[in-house]
Amino acid sequence: MKTAPQLLESFRERFGTPSNIYRAPGRVNLIGEHTDYNDGFVLPAAIGFCCWVAGARRSDRKLAIHSENFSETVEAGLDLLAPLRKRHWANYPLGVAWALEESGRRLSGTNLFIAGEVPLGAGLSSSAAIEVAVGMALLNQGGHEVNRSELAKLCQRAENEFVGARVGIMDQFVSCHGRAGHALLLDCRSLEFELVKLPAEVQLVICNTMVKHEIGSGEYNTRRAECEEGVRKLQIVLPGIRALRDVTLAQLEEHRGVLEPKVFSRCCHVITENERVMKAVEAFRSENLEALGPLMQDSHRSLRDDYEVSCKELDLMTEIAVAQRGVIGARMTGGGFGGCTINLVADVAVEEFKRQVSAQYFEKTGQRPEIYVSAASEGAQQVDTGTVRPAI
Ligand code: GLA
Repeated sequence: MKTAPQLLESFRERFGTPSNIYRAPGRVNLIGEHTDYNDGFVLPAAIGFCCWVAGARRSDRKLAIHSENFSETVEAGLDLLAPLRKRHWANYPLGVAWALEESGRRLSGTNLFIAGEVPLGAGLSSSAAIEVAVGMALLNQGGHEVNRSELAKLCQRAENEFVGARVGIMDQFVSCHGRAGHALLLDCRSLEFELVKLPAEVQLVICNTMVKHEIGSGEYNTRRAECEEGVRKLQIVLPGIRALRDVTLAQLEEHRGVLEPKVFSRCCHVITENERVMKAVEAFRSENLEALGPLMQDSHRSLRDDYEVSCKELDLMTEIAVAQRGVIGARMTGGGFGGCTINLVADVAVEEFKRQVSAQYFEKTGQRPEIYVSAASEGAQQVDTGTVRPAI
């Protein structure tokens, strides 16, 4: 990965001018999966991998966006922004420009050089990182204030309406608001949040199954539709509800009959997962770490059996992890269908954990997993290029 001075240099080589640097992190979710778009609760943390963006204003209304990861430059006029072909990397930055303009903020033409270090397709929100870093660059270069919650919502809008993935607000929000050493308890309805201090002697260990997580596969949008169907049916008997967030487990049980069995299971996951988030926060606050293991395990089981977004590699990785010494809890993290697990591991046990998990996963699958140890990190920021180097 480049250092910030190298990024300035790369920008100058390509565009011939000085630039400013911005960065936004990926995330890992400790618990609260597929609850965000049900107005529920999540507990993610920003991680040490970031998307880095060098940007400088130009005198016209054009964007020139270079991706180092894809070795490609895309140009577009700010007055005529439209998505490129499906899955093109540039749809994320272009979508953010579109959403910012749609919100009434007039942008100036900008040259952007993007270098991402969040592993792609690993379920660690490389897309939110690029959106937020580009959003911050465009706002700053256009002379606009950065309101972080507003920026998160506009990045989500870009992904929903321009890219075409109906994601919730979690990833963009924590990329904007993350804090070193803390997870973030977010109420996805009100967008109120509280920082939850993580114990200093525990590390976030992220194990990549190396199975590409494909959020575009349609399954994610299908889950959302199933939740919406659940709400519609339950509203007939519970007219006061707006989202699954408003339904208790007792109410769900009572009205089981109005739901298809599959929709019932999806609702059951969301409702119990919201409860687990609150219990996990309580466990962190009261330093009752032993309570976290069962909560994370139940979350994994519920995602596997009721929500059906796990896969055999995620199940295996979690199974191997929980058998290791010093593990407080383990579960799949993010949208699912591949990607990573999150493991809370006592720091004295981390090296042995990495060795064991890597060897056992390789033995069973023939794949070498990537294992990242990350501190909970700061959210998006403009980088002081005099002093700061990339975190990883
Ligand atoms: C993806 C989405 C998030 C969230 C998670 C599942 O990461 O981007 O909004 O829904 O899946 O918890």
